[in-house]
Amino acid sequence: MDWFKIADEAELERRLPDVNALSSFDLGESSICVARLEDGYYAVADMCPHASGSLSEGEIDSRENIVCPVHLYKFSLRTGINTSGEDYFLKKYPLKLMEDGYYIGIEK
Ligand code: FES
Repeated sequence: MDWFKIADEAELERRLPDVNALSSFDLGESSICVARLEDGYYAVADMCPHASGSLSEGEIDSRENIVCPVHLYKFSLRTGINTSGEDYFLKKYPLKLMEDGYYIGIEK
């Protein structure tokens, strides 16, 4: 796995100041959506697997699902499972804090 820095700690805190905040980060040609839950940050593809809506422009519901703003399909931020039942799957990315900031892991 290769690790790519997306932000230092202060920037992530500034862009995601509250629980249930969402923000997108560019990573090469793809865009990653980072969500803040009670216990930390979670990273998923910003592009909805249904019809490419931008998930970072959606919202997080009371069950920690990210809700796409286009057709309102829901995906678990912890598992990527399409919890509204349309049989899609949202790609998740490992996110970890290293000495100089937060890094996203990408499979080689
Ligand atoms: S584009 Fe996301 S639910 Fe359709």
